[in-house]
Amino acid sequence: MTITATDLVTGHHNAADLPELREELLDVYRDAYADKITNPFFAEDRYWQRLEVYAVRDGFQLVTGRLHDRLVGYALGYTLPAGSAWWRGLLNEVDAGLLVEDGTRTFALNYIMVRQATRRHGMAKALHDALMASRTESRATLLVQPENVPASAAYANWGWYRIGQLKPFDDAPTYDALILDLGRKR
Ligand SMILES: CC(C)(COP(=O)(O)OP(=O)(O)OC[C@H]1O[C@@H](n2cnc3c(N)ncnc32)[C@H](O)[C@@H]1OP(=O)(O)O)[C@@H](O)C(=O)NCCC(=O)NCCS
Repeated sequence: MTITATDLVTGHHNAADLPELREELLDVYRDAYADKITNPFFAEDRYWQRLEVYAVRDGFQLVTGRLHDRLVGYALGYTLPAGSAWWRGLLNEVDAGLLVEDGTRTFALNYIMVRQATRRHGMAKALHDALMASRTESRATLLVQPENVPASAAYANWGWYRIGQLKPFDDAPTYDALILDLGRKR
């Protein structure tokens, strides 16, 4: 069967939809993160715990992508609250103004993933664009492991830029912290 992003059907969801989507979301996670899932930080139960924490945040949104009814990928995030701890693990100095959160400024993209069999067909771009198009924040941020070549290349192509490196928790990897200007006036 030909795989094309024009067949991708996107759906927008909030926290209330998580319980019924749980098994499908975890199935895609296991596939997309198959190379990392033996690392305790990426274990499925810890992933789901993180997702439930994100889901109760203001502005939480999940965009799902289905091909012929099968979930092939999704992206999710939430609005950083005023005084957010998001930037606390930043390892380098940046202009302090970059780190100010007022509860409306920044959308945090927590996860974007696509099943291995449907990669390199524009699915992630379609999910990303559907999610960003529905946001009202003036910018977005995400964390990506520098060695994650596919994701880093995608973000660079989509206009994200790096402001430094960040380690969110003691046992978390060190990530590149990226920003995307969403072109909306504050
Ligand atoms: C990163 C990921 C979501 C990309 O999904 P995808 O559907 O294959 O991405 P797209 O087809 O939309 O590709 C978008 C761009 O990403 C880049 N890209 C994607 N895969 C790549 C690869 N293997 N090597 C180099 N660049 C790659 C390309 O620039 C591509 O554009 P192009 O195909 O026009 O050249 C997918 O690889 C994935 O699920 N990885 C595991 C989970 C993950 O790491 N998520 C990101 C965490 S920060």
